[in-house]
Amino acid sequence: MTGYISAKETAEKWNISQRRVAILCCEGRVDGAVTVGNMWIIPSNAKKPADKRALRGEVRASTALKPFLKWAGGKGQLVDELENTIFAEERHFTKYCEPMVGGGALFFNILSKHNFEQIYIGDVNRELINSYNVIKTEVDGLIARLQKMKTAFLAMDGEERKKYYYSVRDKYNETELTNSTSVEKAAYFIFLNKTCFNGLYRVNRKGLFNVPMGAYKNPAVFDEESLLCINKALQNVVIVCGDYSLSRDFIDRNTLVYFDPPYRPISATSAFNSYNADAFDDDEQIRLYEFINDISGVGAKIILSNSDPKNVDPDDTFFDSLYSSYNIRRVSASRMINSKADGRGSINELIISN
Ligand SMILES: C[S@@+](CC[C@H](N)C(=O)[O-])C[C@H]1O[C@@H](n2cnc3c(N)ncnc32)[C@H](O)[C@@H]1O
Repeated sequence: MTGYISAKETAEKWNISQRRVAILCCEGRVDGAVTVGNMWIIPSNAKKPADKRALRGEVRASTALKPFLKWAGGKGQLVDELENTIFAEERHFTKYCEPMVGGGALFFNILSKHNFEQIYIGDVNRELINSYNVIKTEVDGLIARLQKMKTAFLAMDGEERKKYYYSVRDKYNETELTNSTSVEKAAYFIFLNKTCFNGLYRVNRKGLFNVPMGAYKNPAVFDEESLLCINKALQNVVIVCGDYSLSRDFIDRNTLVYFDPPYRPISATSAFNSYNADAFDDDEQIRLYEFINDISGVGAKIILSNSDPKNVDPDDTFFDSLYSSYNIRRVSASRMINSKADGRGSINELIISN
């Protein structure tokens, strides 16, 4: 009689990650695999399925690229779910587009594992896109500046650190972003992101960054090796600052497009859709829907994530009505960045696809 083994044991036996075993099981590609609670168990004599991605020559050497920033609404927790949605497709896409990239949780995961012929990332946040551009073109200068700041900061005690943080914040706000200040501003931006409260990016009405210092004992300001890997990986990536609609010319029927727009606030007190001075209100969500319909019409594969308004109001069918002709899945995630402790906890996110 066949016995069962865990996903962990299977991963060791097949020399792949436990997550990959779970994906293969979800895809129904492991004969006899079943779930017990929320865990997969696999017949001990099950055969490792051929890797479709390897067959297509899509798998890259395993450089694990990871975000260099903390970013509100970052999709770290949803990456597996999003990947499952992508791999559920039998179609082969040669182009990847993420026009609201933020910290790029899915983007870096995709970049680590798959070879797309062309890749486009964009965001409306100028300082964020400047950091991506500087990592792509001037990584050595950036590392030198960050190293200086990190060494100085970590050697300081509490009060000194506070003074240093606020002096960097002042310099960041006083320095206009131009070609000649791009490296300096990227270094301030990354330093502030890693040392400020909860990695928030928030500006006041005048556009000045106003997040207070965070309470980290040993903040990992940056990781040199990781920045160098990102630098290599970005060489063939088109990086655009501006509205997502600028990606229209890039997108065709061979393109996989992932949208992760700012949240529609899940409660009256939730202010996490303010990445910049312009809020992403319902009219903006509708404009995005119209853009998505347009590119869906040319045959692109679309994946969109958003917060589920039903978390707060079970009768709120905003996205269900808007995307009624799309596939809508609800998955559980816990909010990572929130201004109030009582706003944390497990909530549903929406994954919408065509
Ligand atoms: C929820 S965040 C994306 C988070 C990202 N998926 C991650 O893993 O970090 C939404 C992003 O959309 C950007 N954004 C807001 N309005 C935009 C627009 N009209 N066009 C392009 N990007 C926009 C924001 O600056 C923000 O970085």
